[in-house]
Amino acid sequence: MTQDADAKKRRAARAALDLVPDAAILGVGTGSTVNLFIEALALHPDRVRAAVSSSEVSSAKLRAAGVQVLELNDLAGLDLYVDGADEANPARQLIKGGGGALTREKIVAAASRRFVCIVDETKLVTTLGKFPLPVEVIPMARELVARELTRRGGRPVWRAGFVTDNGNHILDVHDLTITDPVGVESAFNQIVGVVTVGLFAARPADVLLIGTAAGVETR
Ligand code: A5P
Repeated sequence: MTQDADAKKRRAARAALDLVPDAAILGVGTGSTVNLFIEALALHPDRVRAAVSSSEVSSAKLRAAGVQVLELNDLAGLDLYVDGADEANPARQLIKGGGGALTREKIVAAASRRFVCIVDETKLVTTLGKFPLPVEVIPMARELVARELTRRGGRPVWRAGFVTDNGNHILDVHDLTITDPVGVESAFNQIVGVVTVGLFAARPADVLLIGTAAGVETR
């Protein structure tokens, strides 16, 4: 990460901390921007009651920051979810999963009353799809799903050597121009063997905090 990009991500991450309600049970995502959020949270760990995280990596960082990490199954819901994204469009719909944690991210997002997404300005796009769309698949169905995604106009590339926290594989789908994110999310989710599509369109972010050179823009 360049110093410049780091500073922009850090601004968005700090702004997210201001949106955390007192004694919140927080959902926390995965990635370099979230790591900066956890760093900021480490200075005020008593701002939150506990957290549920979308990855083993984030859970370890949260514990090191003095935040109790709970299982989602033991909770009725989460107050707020803070996570980054790989791309965001003007409707706050997202591509996520560059770090491979998309399935747990979608679960945590679904369990949260509010989703605050933290990005730097390089993540903003008019149309989603320039960033290859991550799709988590059951390992034995990988080539079956890849053929189907190719038939639908994508160019899936197996993220070889990478296994998700759920024991699955990832296909990164290139060459998509996603003009109907809700439709594509729903259609790709129906392909047998797909676990999760890294499109967050039916449930977009509620708030987008964009770190820029000048400060933070809120959408
Ligand atoms: C993790 O699986 C992703 O969804 C991340 O949220 C996304 O890749 C953003 O990561 P960075 O904050 O590192 O750009």
